[in-house]
Formats: sequence, structure tokens, C-alpha cells
Amino acid sequence: MSAAPAADFASRDGAARVRVELGDRGYDIVIGAGALGDAAALRRSHPKLRRVLVVTDETVQRLHGMRLAEALDRAGLARETVVLPPGEATKSFAMLESLCEALLEKRVDRGDVIVAFGGGVIGDLAGFAAAVLLRGLDYVQMPTTLLAQVDSSVGGKTAIDTRQGKNLVGAFHQPRAVIADTALLDTLPRRDLLAGYAEVAKYGLIADEAFFAWLEGAWAAVVGGAGAERTGAIAHSCRAKAAIVAEDEREAGRRALLNLGHTFGHALEAECGFGDELRHGEAVALGTVMAFDLSASLGLCSPVAADRVRRHFAAAGLPTSLRANTLAARAWPAERLVEHMRSDKKARAGTLTFILARGIGQAFVAHDVPADKVIPTLRAHGAA
Ligand code: NAD
Ligand code: GLY
Repeated sequence: MSAAPAADFASRDGAARVRVELGDRGYDIVIGAGALGDAAALRRSHPKLRRVLVVTDETVQRLHGMRLAEALDRAGLARETVVLPPGEATKSFAMLESLCEALLEKRVDRGDVIVAFGGGVIGDLAGFAAAVLLRGLDYVQMPTTLLAQVDSSVGGKTAIDTRQGKNLVGAFHQPRAVIADTALLDTLPRRDLLAGYAEVAKYGLIADEAFFAWLEGAWAAVVGGAGAERTGAIAHSCRAKAAIVAEDEREAGRRALLNLGHTFGHALEAECGFGDELRHGEAVALGTVMAFDLSASLGLCSPVAADRVRRHFAAAGLPTSLRANTLAARAWPAERLVEHMRSDKKARAGTLTFILARGIGQAFVAHDVPADKVIPTLRAHGAA
């Protein structure tokens, strides 16, 4: 009997459209090189639209601001632009205040649409501002990082970080459309491409072993190329996320699986004070390796599966240990990392919640994981 052919997730036509089915709040994700040129699409959801308020960061504005401005001009849309500093520190109360004030100074009204033009930081912050300004404005996500194109721009989670932890102040507020121009990724530094790749691999690890197996061969083309593999991986990730969001918009159940690697990852980010030392996607990669190792140590999955995850992320060049490169400069006290985990949104009455796995593509939510089971996993990865 011949073996079944390996699944192929590459997109032959280089473009895709994915629907997030949420009834009258449903929306399309448009994916492809040059998708930004279709800014006129904004008129499909908002026929009377005259003006958009673009929120972006300095890097994206410098590299791609002109491209968006030209597309909006061609669509006959007036625009105002607010440019913020790049980096995770922008997802703060202080920046939320200055963004809201800047938009109010521009006399934002309910006929305007906010355009979040940037990575996950801009998407989360601008989306939250849209959720609260004038008690709720429409907004469109135009994601410019791989992470934002495969994850953060889809599903309506918006938030800022606080001293107590990541994404602790926010709202569910769905965008009216997502326009993911894959050509914008050509300027993204390799470090950010890799950070986004961790969230691509996540979809395979949660519930799609065939996708993960394909990525084991195709990851270099997904990260490095502008070809069929990258667009295909983005479209497949968006389909996976859209299906989960349609089933469980407010994370009452299955959506929590998307947090694979995040209980560990958010604790690592909090320990760094949300600085540039550790990108969110890097923390997720490390956290995913830890989650599989914890699963193996609890006898839930085989050490072979956990090792397969570690080897894949290591091959791609993502951090898989706290002893890696610059991360080794910090002590990473295990008890303090567990304290950060107690502030995680998923924690209930001080108990820890993790996404664990019975194998590749077999993730599940585990409540009440005892801290004394977690600490050895942290130490095995270099925590003190
Ligand atoms: P980011 O927004 O900070 O972008 C990373 C860097 O890339 C920034 O310096 C940015 O200026 C730069 N950049 C953006 N686009 C570029 C381009 N095309 N070319 C060159 N440089 C470019 O980070 P991110 O990794 O996109 O997003 C991380 C954030 O997303 C975290 O805050 C995380 O919590 C959030 N997130 C949210 C969700 C959600 O569902 N809302 C999901 C996953 C992650
Ligand atoms: N990135 C996790 C979620 O959207 O639910």
C-alpha cells in the first residue's frame, strides 16, 4: 500500500480570502501581495465613508506610509494619521491616552473608520481605542508583520499591558475587515519574521499535525520567501483562527487553545518588563517548548513529540532555552515566573492554567496545574 501524499498548504494563486463567520459582525480577511492597493474595499463595508484615521508606528510609516496614502487617495478617502513609537512599550495606558486624545483632537466621529496599520502592538492598541472612543468606532486591521497577519489582526482581541501583566486591560471588539498585504513583509527583519512564525507553527501544534509536518519541510520558504508557501501558510493560519473565533468568540472554551505557550510566554515577557529583549513570538516559541516538555513530564505526551517541537523551533532559529544567547544574561528566578503566571488572565483563584498536549496537534486546556510541577520544567530550561 502506498503512503498517502503529504499535504501541501502552499497557495498557488498567491492570494486568498477567508471569512470570519460572526453573523452580521462577520468580516473578510483579504490576503495577498498588493492587497493594500484595494483600499477601495473599505467602501464595501462603509459605502458612505469619507475619512479614515490611520494609526501606525514610526517604522511602518517610514517604510510603507506612502503606499497606504496612495491607495487611500486612489479610493478617494481623506485621511488623518497618528504615528506612535514602535515596540511593546506602546501598548500602555499612557499611549492609549495620547492616542485617544490625538484622535479626539482630530474630531473623530462615528462616521470615521480607524485603520490599524502595523504589527500586533498597533493592532491591539488602535483596536482598543476604537472599542472605547465614542463608546465604539468601526476599525479595520491592516497588519504589517507576519505575527499580525496570522494571529493578532483576526478575532477582535484588543488590549494594553499594565505593570501587573500582559493584555490585562482590553476588550473584544471585532474589526470590520482585515487587509493583509503580504508584500509588506519584505521589509520585516528576520527576527520579527521568526517571531511571527512561532504563531504559524502554533496552529499545527494545537490541532493540525499535517500542517505541522508540512511546516517542518516548508518553514524556510514560509519565513524567507515571498512565494506560494508564505501566502499559503498565512491563509491556512487565518482559516484555523477564523474557525475557532466563529465557534468561541469570547474564549469560553476552545479559543483558549490559541494560548498554547502563552502561560509560560507571558510570564517571560513580564519578567523582561515588556521590553525589546524578548519579542512576543519568541516568548511563545519558548513557552510552547516548555508546554510540551511539561506535558511529557506529566506523562501526557511522549518525550519524542516534545523533542520534535524543540528541534523544529531550534532549526528555525527560535529560542528554545533561557540559556540561549542574550537571554542567559538574566537570572529568570523560577518562583517569580510562577508569580507572574498567577496574574495571567487564564488563572482562576490563584491556580495555574496551561494549554498542554497529548501529542502534536492534540492540545487541550489544563486547569489547576500545581506550581511544583511547573518549576522543574522552568529550571530544565535555564530558570534559576
Ligand atoms: P510589533 O507590532 O511590535 O512589530 C514588531 C516590529 O516590527 C516593530 O518594531 C514594528 O515597528 C516593526 N514592523 C512592523 N511592520 C513592519 C514591516 N512591514 N517592515 C519592517 N518593520 C515592521 O510586534 P508583533 O510581533 O507584530 O505583535 C506583538 C503583539 O501582538 C504583542 O503585544 C502581542 O500581545 C500581540 N498579540 C495579540 C494577539 C491578539 O489576538 N490580539 C495575538 C497575538 C499577539
Ligand atoms: N491569540 C489568542 C487569541 O486570539 O485568542
